[in-house]
Amino acid sequence: MGIFHVELKKVVDESYEIEIGFCLEDKLISDIQNGLVGSITKFAVITDSVVKDLYAVRILNKLINAGYHADLFVFDAGEVNKTRKTKELVEDAMLEKGYRRDCCIIAVGGGVVTDLAGFVAGTFGRGVPFINYATTLLAAADASIGGKTAVDTPLATNLIGLFNQPEKVYLDIATWKTLPVRQISSGLAETIKHACIASKEFFDYLNVHMSEIFHIDKSACEHIAKENCRIKYEVVMKDERENGLREVLNLGHTVGRAIETVSGYKLLHGEALSIGIVAEVKLAYKLGYMTEGQRDDVTALLKKADLPTAIPAYIDREYLVKKLYTDKKVKNGQLRFVIQNGIGDVVAFNEGVYATKIEEDVAREIIFDM
Ligand code: GLY
Repeated sequence: MGIFHVELKKVVDESYEIEIGFCLEDKLISDIQNGLVGSITKFAVITDSVVKDLYAVRILNKLINAGYHADLFVFDAGEVNKTRKTKELVEDAMLEKGYRRDCCIIAVGGGVVTDLAGFVAGTFGRGVPFINYATTLLAAADASIGGKTAVDTPLATNLIGLFNQPEKVYLDIATWKTLPVRQISSGLAETIKHACIASKEFFDYLNVHMSEIFHIDKSACEHIAKENCRIKYEVVMKDERENGLREVLNLGHTVGRAIETVSGYKLLHGEALSIGIVAEVKLAYKLGYMTEGQRDDVTALLKKADLPTAIPAYIDREYLVKKLYTDKKVKNGQLRFVIQNGIGDVVAFNEGVYATKIEEDVAREIIFDM
C-alpha cells in the first residue's frame, strides 16, 4: 500500500479577443495566417443548415483558397437539434474525415452552433482549439462569448457541457441583416437582460434607439454589441465558473429556461427569456426591490423589442412550476432566483451571493398570474 501525491498546479492564461465589426471573414483568415491557432492547418467548420449557404461555405472557401485543409460539418438548424445525438454525429463525421487532435474547430452560426461546436471542441481528442464566428445577435450578446458550451437533454436546456474558452470570437454585425426579425428580438432579450442587471444608461439607450437596432443601424448595433461584451465580461472575468457573481447573468432564466423546454422549443431562447424577465420583475416588485413603475418600464421595453411578456395559453402552468427545479441554481432542492434591484443593478444577498431561495408557492403565484 502507498500514497502517491500527484501535484498538478496550473497557471493558465485563456485570455482572448472579441472582434466586433462588419464582414470579418477576411480578418478571420488573416488572423489564422498570422498565428491565431499556431501552426494548425486543418479546420473543421461547424455550422447549421441555415447558416451554411449564408456564411459558412464562404468561410470554408476562403480557408481552402488560403491553402488550408478544411471541411464543412452541417446539422439541421434549431435548438431542438442541440443534442448529444447531434454532437455524436458531428464527431463521427470529423473522425471519418480524418480529423484528429491537430485540428481547430470554427463555429459559424448562432448560439446553437457555438454552444454545440464549443462542446465538441472541448471533448474531441480530449480537447482542440476553437474559434467562434457569431452570426446572430443572440450569439453576439451572450452565447458565443463567455465560454459556456453545452447541449440540451430531454429534461432541460444546457445541462451537459463544459466551460471552454475560444481562441477568438468574431461578432460580424453585417450578418444580422439576414436575420428574421424574430431572431433580432430574441437577441434583444439577452441585451435587455444585460441593461437590467448593470446599466440604467444602457436601458435608456435601448428605449431611445430600438428602431435603429431593428434597422441594423451601424452605430446603434456597434454600441449594443460593445455594451453586451462589456457588461458580460465584467462578470465573467471575476467569476468564470459561476461560483457566485456569474449567477447574475441568469436573471430571468429560472422561468425562461423552463418555459423554453416546456414550449417544446416553439419559443426561441430570447422569447422564453423575455417571459422569464417579466416573471422576475414581478417577483422583485413583490419583494420590494423594484417600484411598480420600474417593473412596468422593463415589461414595456421588452414589448418594444417585440418580445412576448405573458406565458402562452398552451403552456401547462403546473408542469412549468415542476420544470423550475431543472434550473442549475437549485440548491438542496430549493428554487433560487436572481433578483433585480431597480433597473441596472441586482440584489447581493450576501458576500458573493446573488441568488435567493424562493418558496415554490411564491413562484407558482407569479406564474399563474401571467
Ligand atoms: N448565459 C449566461 C452566462 O453566460 O453565464
